[in-house]
Amino acid sequence: MSQDVLLRRISRMKKLVWLLVLALLGWDPPQAHAQTARRNVASLYQELCANCHGPDLRGGQARSLLDDEWVHGSGDDATLFAVIRDGDELNGMPPWKNVLSDEEIRALVIYIREKATEARHAATRYAQPRPDQVVGSKLHRFRVRTVAEGLAAPWSMAWLPDGTMLVTELPGRLRLVREGRLLPEAVKGLPEVRYRGQGGLMEVAVHPGYATNGWIYLAYSEPGRDQQGRDVSMTTLIRGRLRGLTWADSEIVWRAPLWSFRPGNIHFGCRIAFGPDGYLYFSHGERGHGPDAQDLRRPNGKIHRIHDDGRIPADNPFVGQPETFPSIWSYGHRNPQGLAFHPVTGELWETEHGPRGGDELNLIVRGRNYGWPVITYGMNYDGTPITAHTAAEGMEQPVVHWTPSIAVCGMDFYRGERFPLWRHHLFVTGLASQELRRLEIRGHAVAEQEILFKGIGRVRHVATGPDGYLYVALNGPDRIIRLEPADQ
Ligand code: HEC
Repeated sequence: MSQDVLLRRISRMKKLVWLLVLALLGWDPPQAHAQTARRNVASLYQELCANCHGPDLRGGQARSLLDDEWVHGSGDDATLFAVIRDGDELNGMPPWKNVLSDEEIRALVIYIREKATEARHAATRYAQPRPDQVVGSKLHRFRVRTVAEGLAAPWSMAWLPDGTMLVTELPGRLRLVREGRLLPEAVKGLPEVRYRGQGGLMEVAVHPGYATNGWIYLAYSEPGRDQQGRDVSMTTLIRGRLRGLTWADSEIVWRAPLWSFRPGNIHFGCRIAFGPDGYLYFSHGERGHGPDAQDLRRPNGKIHRIHDDGRIPADNPFVGQPETFPSIWSYGHRNPQGLAFHPVTGELWETEHGPRGGDELNLIVRGRNYGWPVITYGMNYDGTPITAHTAAEGMEQPVVHWTPSIAVCGMDFYRGERFPLWRHHLFVTGLASQELRRLEIRGHAVAEQEILFKGIGRVRHVATGPDGYLYVALNGPDRIIRLEPADQ
């Protein structure tokens, strides 16, 4: 060993001893991004920013970050990011790039958006309609009428040609509302579902050719046991027919191979939409395993396309490629819980429940990658960052994202006649935000958003009924309501 190397080793050891002593004294080394990447955003804010911008972000020695008035640019994400990273020292804003990682700066931008939205909601009055109360909105006055009460976690609804409404209840029951009355007994003979966490009986859909074939489709979390004996589950699709109140002719339409089932009970998806091309599309959540969404060998975190009986269409994008799952239509999805075809353009739209921030509305294109978890506008629920990246080459951008999250769930294009000015507008639900939103889509963009009501329960799903009313499934209390024009 040369003297040089020896000296270097000794000096490195000295440094280590010093670091150990300092660590014992409670000293944090500066610029230690790697070790501190999991710091919580709220405590970062209080520690580093509250002195000047105020503990509630309302300003103090420095400006308010809540008033949506910005001295730097238009206050867009990229500008805020740059100001926090590089500072504006001439005007008293220190640079933070030596203290904070890019991921943490991104989390602070999300945090500022959350607090600003909270402040705006606190200052805005939204309609909280009671039954039969008339509600004003930009384009139509409406009232809400309760259609069915006493349900347990209603998840989805669909209609038979005779007007009977089918409603799924998450605990595993399929209920019928016939001539305005919820039948007290549930459909008998459904398969076992795993009702845990977010799982259970979720989607119900009626085949477009129901009048001749009688097929009804269900999607649910199917329980399994893996080779280590762990409880696992995955989204499964079946179809069957109703004989009276009995589920008959049941057959499996799509089921993941057992090796791909995942433990945990979150992010199942799962909506079904029949395309104008005659194929069945459905969404599958990533089951709480983010990287699976990028793995084409696995079915979770994807939108799938199959024949109505489960066969794989020969022109699916990954058919014939080795080590891919042939029903995949698009990938990189987190928890897509809304899926519908535009009634005029026939394009497929999707809503996707993001992490904390970064709920998305996407236009789904064959074979494309929607980025989760490599890019996202959100952060972890505990306020630690996921990534600094919101965009990347070869990955799709959402049409809009909701940051902070509204906890987006189901959606539907309005297809009825009763609200003429709402025709073909997109209605989107929020669970945590307890809101129903109307989005006017122009081309591939959202021209306008309006919150129609807020604060009367978690909004799980929305669908146009065959009678032209807009039906909404609410949790807490669990019920189905419908919007009726107030002027008719
Ligand atoms: C020493 C006081 C001080 C601290 C600490 C501080 N800021 Fe600032 N900040 C300022 C001042 C002053 C400005 C306004 C600069 C200007 O007028 O150009 C500012 C501007 C900003 C802006 C841009 C506002 C606009 O209108 O464009 C953002 C965003 C911001 N700060 C975020 C933060 C964050 C996040 C932290 C903590 C990591 C932080 N600041 C810590 C003083 C501070």
